[in-house]
Amino acid sequence: MLQVMVWRGHADGGFRRYDVPREESQTVLDVVTHIQRRIDSTLAYRYACRVGMCGSCAMTVNGRARWTCRTHVSEVARDDRLEIGPLAHLPIVRDLVTDMSAFFEKLAKAKGQFQPTKTRRDDFARIEPTSAPRRAIDAAIECIGCGVCYAACDVVAWNAEYLGPAALNRAWTLVNDARDAARGERLAAVAGDAGCHACHTHESCTERCPKHLAPTASIAGLKRATVVAALRGEL
Ligand code: SF4
Ligand code: SF4
Ligand code: FES
Repeated sequence: MLQVMVWRGHADGGFRRYDVPREESQTVLDVVTHIQRRIDSTLAYRYACRVGMCGSCAMTVNGRARWTCRTHVSEVARDDRLEIGPLAHLPIVRDLVTDMSAFFEKLAKAKGQFQPTKTRRDDFARIEPTSAPRRAIDAAIECIGCGVCYAACDVVAWNAEYLGPAALNRAWTLVNDARDAARGERLAAVAGDAGCHACHTHESCTERCPKHLAPTASIAGLKRATVVAALRGEL
């Protein structure tokens, strides 16, 4: 039997214990689902795909942000004990559900939307697959916005305005996109006190990203690009 401590309530809530039967190949999401379906139907949690595609099942498991659907109990349980809480650095809606609004608003603040230079009537842009900008995009583009890196980042905890690793990683993909029209605007958006220069390169985001992306490297790229733009008087 697993002894599972699960966060219940809001920010002023607390952990409640549930005993869950141990099963073969059981994931942490299976444990949460068992509790909600068999023990306490009032437990609020979130998931969609169960196969590591959507990122919506991210929670704090034994103190670390993880995708619960891709985390086997056998990897994380200590003496058949688990502690499951909501993602850090985001307001708690209830139980294991956080409000991701600030996280997504920061993607917008970092100018994370593609600004096209062409219309559908124009010819395709030709981007050399082996070019340095294209390779930089390839290394960072697979982010699914799960918030694990954001929950793992100390700077987000100290500075609520900090754009955070996911938004900055997204900005870096667009800074490298030759088809995009907003490069200067985007560099200006990420160059301020809450932007890339606030990152202390501790790499928790890169260690924790379930997609094995490296936001720290993207942020280092933004640091270089913003300094070059500033020296050229473009910011
Ligand atoms: S960079 Fe990785 S951890 Fe961060 S939101 Fe994207 S997929 Fe999730
Ligand atoms: S490397 Fe930068 S963005 Fe990543 S966790 Fe550390 S401070 Fe946050
Ligand atoms: S439920 Fe979609 S990634 Fe876990």
